[in-house]
Amino acid sequence: MTTVLVAGATGSVGSLIVKNLLERGADVRALVRGSSKHKLPTHPRLTPYVGDLTDGAAALQPHVNGVDVVVSAVQGGPEIIIDGQRELLRAAERAGVHRMIPSDFSINLYGYGYGVNVLSDLRRTFTDEFDSSTVARTSVSIGAFPEYLLADVHEILDPMAGTFSIWGDGTRPIDITTIPDTAAYTAAIALDPGTAGREVHVVGQQLSMLELRNEVETASGRRWNLVRKGTLRDLRAEIARRQFTASSMFEYLALQYQIAMFDGTASLRDVRNADYPDVLPTSVAAYLAGSGAAHFAVPETNWRQNEWPTAV
Ligand SMILES: NC(=O)c1ccc[n+]([C@@H]2O[C@H](COP(=O)([O-])OP(=O)(O)OC[C@H]3O[C@@H](n4cnc5c(N)ncnc54)[C@H](OP(=O)(O)O)[C@@H]3O)[C@@H](O)[C@H]2O)c1
Repeated sequence: MTTVLVAGATGSVGSLIVKNLLERGADVRALVRGSSKHKLPTHPRLTPYVGDLTDGAAALQPHVNGVDVVVSAVQGGPEIIIDGQRELLRAAERAGVHRMIPSDFSINLYGYGYGVNVLSDLRRTFTDEFDSSTVARTSVSIGAFPEYLLADVHEILDPMAGTFSIWGDGTRPIDITTIPDTAAYTAAIALDPGTAGREVHVVGQQLSMLELRNEVETASGRRWNLVRKGTLRDLRAEIARRQFTASSMFEYLALQYQIAMFDGTASLRDVRNADYPDVLPTSVAAYLAGSGAAHFAVPETNWRQNEWPTAV
């Protein structure tokens, strides 16, 4: 039986990777911070290992002794994605672990260079650690989560204004995979020894922004006016402008993902869905007919200008 340690086992993606690994019969160790242990489900093949990526390799090593594959689904800044994952990798090396899946789960961030996306840069920097490692890297690329792509942060859907905004001509296919499908594929890939040393691309559905708008109109039963915000050149200029004035990277991060999706540099290549025929990815239409319908809701409280909320 394969033993897999999952770091970030309490997160949105990690918790579902754990669920899928258990369904596939693996022995699963959840690396979990003490304060988060209560978030783990109970299962006879799931064992909590209390630890923190910032504890260092020596403290992490007992957790990975006897493990075949490490899967990381952590989230955070450089102290987690670069330094923390490096400590986990060092521990895995000492324990003789065969493979590690780092916390990428992204657009094809190896399709473009440094300086395009601040979070991709962290992941690429950590990837370099594998050059001198005995642990083989398996990277999983899936495109964008629709849970994020259609949320406020991307400034695409605006339910109040009834608009669907795009940069560029909106005709290039982009890669969209739900969080549950990402987890299902990742569990299958973690248990597939043939993925050692490979970048594995899998996807839920590929469709253009114009096609995505059609899906949104069909699912919501309402019209979404198309707003063309500018060319891709305009998008680059907007990112540069925001980088200069932003108080937080979250003011331009989503646009950094969009430019790489819309100019094609982050497109998935050699999509391997056929290697995992038992994973049946969710179509965008099915997503929007289910939990994705929440994207269409107009926020309940919208204060008009100069109107103060009543104290309750
Ligand atoms: N493609 C896309 O559109 C897209 C969108 C969003 C995210 N992602 C990617 O998906 C991956 C997972 O993201 P997520 O949204 O699932 O993250 P999340 O829900 O925030 O979960 C993060 C996990 O990391 C754990 N963690 C954080 N710091 C840690 C530390 N020092 N030591 C041990 N564990 C630590 C957290 O534990 P606690 O429970 O203790 O906090 C939690 O389990 C990331 O690589 C992210 O970039 C992709």
